[in-house]
Amino acid sequence: MRFDIITLFPEMFAGPFSHSIIKRAKEKGLAEIHLHQLRDFAAGRHRKVDDYPFSGGAGMVMMIEPLARCLESLQKEREYDEVIYTSPDGELLDQPLANQLSLYKNIIILCGHYKGIDERIREHFITREISIGNYVLSGGELAASVIVDSLVRLLPGVLGNESSALSDSFQDGLVSPPVYTRPRTFRGWEVPAILLSGDEKRIAQWKNEQAIQRTRQRRPGLLDE
Ligand code: ADE
Repeated sequence: MRFDIITLFPEMFAGPFSHSIIKRAKEKGLAEIHLHQLRDFAAGRHRKVDDYPFSGGAGMVMMIEPLARCLESLQKEREYDEVIYTSPDGELLDQPLANQLSLYKNIIILCGHYKGIDERIREHFITREISIGNYVLSGGELAASVIVDSLVRLLPGVLGNESSALSDSFQDGLVSPPVYTRPRTFRGWEVPAILLSGDEKRIAQWKNEQAIQRTRQRRPGLLDE
């Protein structure tokens, strides 16, 4: 899967995309992530990318010309399945949406900044607006990192154990059951005996019961859905 990310702060992605699962996915050729500095598509000596809003008001607006130039240069090279804009008023990212997007081949993610982008970009280029939660971030880069991470881990071959993305919290509409590792006893705190029993069938049943019970306690809304 190929991601083209349009941003004013490409350096912000160095951390999230250089470690662990995303790093391995890139090395294996399963995910390609291309960062595009929007300023490179701006005109003039000052490479201006934002301007005052018509009619006034607080904050700057990302200008239409550099955005259109950048988007069109990408779209000239290949077909994109989705042109995503990260925005607090977009649809909320959840596991079903991540699953759906992970089936795509090429996506663009445009990271918003300041007061947002000129509305005409939304009307003419953006196919989907995604929010990662009901709060306002300083910019779209963290949201884009979250989106990419949630998709890449679903790509076939990325996780060592193929079944492990399927057993994630939310994949079956439930949160995960508790997990334990060695030692069996710490300060007298014991690992549940069932997990040491070797009885696969009863263990699976216990995990399912725990997942349902936890979901009811912690995230009852998931059960309504
Ligand atoms: N940009 C600012 N806040 C955001 C959010 N909650 N989700 C996605 N993009 C954003």
